[in-house]
Amino acid sequence: MSTRRIVIALLVSLAVVGGAAPLYAADLNDVIGVLPKFAIPMREVGDRFQNMYFAAKGGNWGLAFYMSKYMNGAMNPAKVTKPNEYPLWQSFYEEKFAPVNKAMMAKDLAAFEKEYTAVIKECNVCHSAMGYGFIKVVKQKAPSDQGIDYKVPSKAEDVPK
Ligand code: HEC
Repeated sequence: MSTRRIVIALLVSLAVVGGAAPLYAADLNDVIGVLPKFAIPMREVGDRFQNMYFAAKGGNWGLAFYMSKYMNGAMNPAKVTKPNEYPLWQSFYEEKFAPVNKAMMAKDLAAFEKEYTAVIKECNVCHSAMGYGFIKVVKQKAPSDQGIDYKVPSKAEDVPK
């Protein structure tokens, strides 16, 4: 479900319940206030970004692209909770990150390694720009999640739309 749909569903149910019991009444700001901003989604961004590398290396390009897709999706709550800052993420993913996605599509490991390494710098440029220069992404020696086979042969197009 999209973030907007969840918010609307919550509001509708709150309106229904709120009519009978004001105890449950909450306005939109209360709902937005409990949705994730940047910090929680960024944990997922960090993990999926690390996993992506090992998937690409293992020839599991479907898994790599899947990680990229949901790395981006993880940031969706920020559309609602951080509307002024979300466009920074969006332009990062659509522009700076595009060559990484392109290399995954092409199953081109050399291009992937180059673009992946380059984009780490861009992650950190944004951290500094937003006042979080002390959060410096580095490449891990192992994936964040050990419970997946990074070597299943696959291609980016295998990821369901
Ligand atoms: C649009 C700017 C922006 C971009 C681009 C960005 N980040 Fe972040 N990131 C942030 C901000 C802001 C925080 C601090 C969260 C907060 O408190 O709001 C953060 C925090 C983090 C954290 C720490 C999360 C925690 O609380 O433990 C990690 C890990 C992280 N980012 C990884 C990445 C990776 C990997 C990339 C690149 C693929 C990236 N970020 C790109 C803005 C960005």
